[in-house]
Parts: sequence; structure tokens; C-alpha cells
Amino acid sequence: MSTTIIIPIYNEAKNLPRLVPALLSLALPDLNILFIDDNSPDGSGELAEKIAAENPGRIQVEHRQGKMGLGSAYVLGYGLTLETDAQYVCQMDADFSHPPDKVPELAAKLEEGCDLALGSRYVPGGAVAENWPMWRKSLSRFGNFYASAILSLPLSDSTGGFRMWRREALAKMPFERVVSNGYAFQVEVAYMAHKLGLRIGEVPFYFADRKWGQSKMSLSIQIEAAWRVWQVLFRNRGLRPGGD
Ligand code: GDD
Ligand code: MN
Repeated sequence: MSTTIIIPIYNEAKNLPRLVPALLSLALPDLNILFIDDNSPDGSGELAEKIAAENPGRIQVEHRQGKMGLGSAYVLGYGLTLETDAQYVCQMDADFSHPPDKVPELAAKLEEGCDLALGSRYVPGGAVAENWPMWRKSLSRFGNFYASAILSLPLSDSTGGFRMWRREALAKMPFERVVSNGYAFQVEVAYMAHKLGLRIGEVPFYFADRKWGQSKMSLSIQIEAAWRVWQVLFRNRGLRPGGD
């Protein structure tokens, strides 16, 4: 079973040398990494190329001209991965808030028959970092509550970015419909997946605060997320399994 892990990176040079060995040593057969770098000022793109050269055939690096956002990075990564024969397609942050050792548990959910496995901070056994600032904790909790309520989403953590897709399910997703690019992207995609009838499972994990570098979360990204949820509802509420 081959797996590709898509990781958007923007100023993650401190994390990459630790992250790659942690992922490549996982007990998953035929595991590859795809980095999407947006010309990070800290040289993450060049560093990723160097690490790729040290691990022949296992790491691919895609470069974009400038910071274009998380959502479009994922859509690019999904498309490139679907051109390969990867069976499982994982997505995660580069900063260790998504624990590498939980990746096999996401894969196990797919083995059980799920189409999409969500890493979840809000199912029993999951949690967010104690040292996350209060505003970030509240925002994440409230964001999840707000999105689930408006979209009637039966998911505990629809805003999270730690996920794994079964290839066939990912290929069915109409990503050309996606309108959000910031953090609302995760919610929009989860909603489309739910409306299309994908079998979605949740795996608890502990979301650690990043040790190095900075979050790209900003006020404008949060404001976008709040109103986007309504747009996501009106655009996609007619989606049905088997058609769009
Ligand atoms: N290429 C690229 N371009 N990468 C980006 C960009 C961008 O514009 N913005 C962020 N990234 C990368 C970061 O380098 C990191 O690897 C990952 O995408 C997530 O960004 P973070 O800045 O670490 O996000 P976060 O930790 O604040 O937010 C996480 O949790 C949210 C829910 O609480 C992410 O997983 C979000 O997707 C999630 O919605
Ligand atoms: Mn992060």
C-alpha cells in the first residue's frame, strides 16, 4: 500500500531536518513525501531539495513563486499525487503539531474501510496543547462548533489539517468548486466530503504547539473563515453522493 504525505511549507527550515527522518522511518510501506514550498524567505525550499537529494526517490518538492495560501497548496498537491499510483494520501503541517507517529493510525482507519480519516483533537483521547494561548484554544473550539452547527456536520474536528484520504475518494472530490484558501479550506473540503457521502472516521491526537517558527494564522484568515462557512453552505448543500 503506497502512501504520499503532502506537506505545505512556508518558513519551516527548523522543522524539516527533524520531520523528514521521523516520517521516513515510519513502518508504512512505500512512503513518499511531497513538499509544496511558496518561495519561503528562510530557504525552506532549497533545504527541502537538499534533503530530497539525500533520500533519492522518496521526496518531491514543488516550488511556487510566492505565498499563495494553504488551500491552493493542497489542491496542487492532491492533483500531483493523483498522477502517481499512491493509494493513501496524507496531509499534515510541517511543525510537529501533527505527530508523525499518528500517521499509521490514520492509515489503519482507511484499512478499516473509511474513505477519509481525520486527525481529531476533540474526540476522547485527543487534546490541544496546554500551552496554546487561550485565544487560540477558544478560537479552535468555537470555530469547530460554529462550522458544525451551521453545516450540520457530524464531525468533531472539521477545521483540522491532519488527514488521510483513500485515493479513490480524493479523486471523486470536486476541488474546482473550492472557494476558500485560508483555514476555511479544511472546513469546506470536509463538508464536500460529507455531502458526497464519503465514509469519514476520526482518530484522536494530541495537537502540540509548534516548537520552531511561527503560525501563519492571522486575523484576516479568521475573518475569512467566519463568513466563508455560509458561502460553503449555500454553494454545496445540494451536493449528493454520486454526482455534483
Ligand atoms: N506552501 C505554503 N503556502 N505553505 C503554507 C502556507 C502558504 O501560504 N501557509 C501555511 N503553510 C504551511 C506551514 O508552513 C505549515 O506546514 C502548514 O502549512 C500549516 O500552517 P501553520 O501556520 O502551521 O498553521 P496552524 O498550525 O496555525 O494551523 C493548523 O491548524 C488549523 C486548525 O486549528 C493547520 O493544520 C490548519 O490547516 C488548521 O486549519
Ligand atoms: Mn501548524
